[in-house]
Amino acid sequence: MKKELATKVNVYLANIGVSYIKLHNLHWNVVGSQFKAVHEYLETLYDTFADMLDATAEILKMNGEMPLASMKGYLSASTISELESSEMDVENVMKTVLKDMEALKNQARAIREQADEVDQFDVANQMEDDIENYNKTIWFIQSMLK
Ligand SMILES: [Fe+2]
Repeated sequence: MKKELATKVNVYLANIGVSYIKLHNLHWNVVGSQFKAVHEYLETLYDTFADMLDATAEILKMNGEMPLASMKGYLSASTISELESSEMDVENVMKTVLKDMEALKNQARAIREQADEVDQFDVANQMEDDIENYNKTIWFIQSMLK
């Protein structure tokens, strides 16, 4: 794999790692009348992120690259920021998740484009799957915020 692409995939991996914990934070700390629905929905999101973390790291390994594999590594490379542990109302939780999902989707699109240019099909395919998933999540959240 081209070094430049591998570096970008590792930043993406770091963002997924940080988001995995951040989604747990919001799952635990969301408050309001829609608590149960949002609490449960966020669990489905972090479960998907666990799968994405593994799939993305394994693509790097299959191509002879080292995936970032520590919280320290993720925090130093990530462009998604963490949150302190504190209660947050449903609307702010949903807005926070929406913003992150849009950022991740844009990052996946940029990686897909670059992977396409160098015929790195495994990366391009993974990004396409992820983008489809972000599109669905963004639709869900935008519908909840109407
Ligand atoms: Fe839980």
